[in-house]
Amino acid sequence: MATVKFYGNETVPLEMHKVRIVQKLSLPPVERRLEKITEAGNNTFLLKNDDVFLDMLTDSGVNAMSDRQQAAMLIADDSYAGSATYTRLEDKLREIFGMHYFLPTHQGRACEHILAKVLVSPGKVVPMNYHFTTTKAHITLQGGTVEELVTDAGLEVVSVNPFKGNMDIAKLRAVIEKHGADKIAFVRMESGTNLIGGQPFSLANLADVSNVCKEHGIPLVLDASLLADNLYFNKTREDHCKALSIREITRRTADLCDIIYFSARKLGCARGGGICIRDQATYQKMRPLVPLYEGFLTYGGMSVREMEALTVGLDETMDEEMINQGPQFIGYMVDQLTERGVPVITPAGGLGCHVDAKRFVDHIPQSQYPAGALAAALYIASGIRGMERGTLSEQREPDGTEIFANMELVRLALPRRVFTLSQVKYAVDRIAWLYDNRKLIGGLTFVEEPEVLRFFYGLLKPVSDWQNKLVAKFREDFGDSL
Ligand code: F0G
Repeated sequence: MATVKFYGNETVPLEMHKVRIVQKLSLPPVERRLEKITEAGNNTFLLKNDDVFLDMLTDSGVNAMSDRQQAAMLIADDSYAGSATYTRLEDKLREIFGMHYFLPTHQGRACEHILAKVLVSPGKVVPMNYHFTTTKAHITLQGGTVEELVTDAGLEVVSVNPFKGNMDIAKLRAVIEKHGADKIAFVRMESGTNLIGGQPFSLANLADVSNVCKEHGIPLVLDASLLADNLYFNKTREDHCKALSIREITRRTADLCDIIYFSARKLGCARGGGICIRDQATYQKMRPLVPLYEGFLTYGGMSVREMEALTVGLDETMDEEMINQGPQFIGYMVDQLTERGVPVITPAGGLGCHVDAKRFVDHIPQSQYPAGALAAALYIASGIRGMERGTLSEQREPDGTEIFANMELVRLALPRRVFTLSQVKYAVDRIAWLYDNRKLIGGLTFVEEPEVLRFFYGLLKPVSDWQNKLVAKFREDFGDSL
């Protein structure tokens, strides 16, 4: 890896790209930010992008494309069936993953829908390192259950473990023993494990999981949506991967799996998704669902322009200098916040920086949604939009009892190649100010609570007038600054 050393002592993540298309941003004054978050029911999903300065809600579908991706979009071959664009995508996936069959879909959750429909039935169990919201929903919708087998380290917020996304092999063996191999629909490994802070698994761990699966004839499915970050961590944190190229690590990863699916809103910096399959019989079972739910087999709901961009994006994912910006910027942000005493998930993962609301606002009870309150407070303090990943994102028990989440996080996603270092520094500065004034932050309570996926549409209000006090303190400290 080409590292650039600085003459001064500072460690700076240096971008190996330049920015040639820009989008103007605006930062509304703090009083207007309070108005806007109030209108949005204190729910960052309901803010309008025009009122947001740095949109750190997600990395999904909002990564920056390269010049080569943009150029490729112009040569897209528009046809319903048999488009040359599709053939280029299929060839690229075969080249990278070495799996013969491919089914295109409109995005990642559509892959999960098809996988669950074909492989899951009532009583079946799907062991995985950790669940993702849509994955779990599709499996349970088919009558299956999810068993989370991440190692204990995975749930430790503060850690030095480089591979917190690893699966606990003893737990996997125990689950197979308990249910019997015939009850296991498949084993799922998620790269860059999203909900525990974008944490990777090691290639060695994947090999161990694969061995157990082979022993029992259980298919191994990889969710490769966050594969780019996982590859970067394999290369930089795993000794036996240091001498391998990203392309070699990718192929070794793929060789251990039977099925690879992905959201191309993340992997390949485009929009779409797909399922790569090794075995013909499985492919034939899944194939009829694509024209039914997605679109014909040669586009699966994706536009041809996005497919061209994806083909190039996948190729560029094999270039370490094209995938290192995300994890390096996240690493920088995590280090800077840690230095200022702000509680964040460590070690830094992919996807984004995860602020630990349980420790940040330890005076707010989980029943008043500390991570939701912190996300609202951060928007007021900075115009930055993050995502609540805590109790608000859970669903109540049928009897109305609240389920308190394991972790209360505010996820600050860093879409790849989108933000500059000065913008990251701004984020760090405002988060540090908020941390010093954390006692001003209060809880939230529901005004309108939807039964399903309440975090998307729910409306909340502050439990006291803490938000006005926060604005007043901002003015006191920052004068007429935005
Ligand atoms: N798997 C993982 C690991 C994901 O992170 C996502 C999406 C999906 C599957 C579903 O893919 O959105 O294309 O349907 N994660 C987004 C996020 C939504 O914001 O983290 P999709």
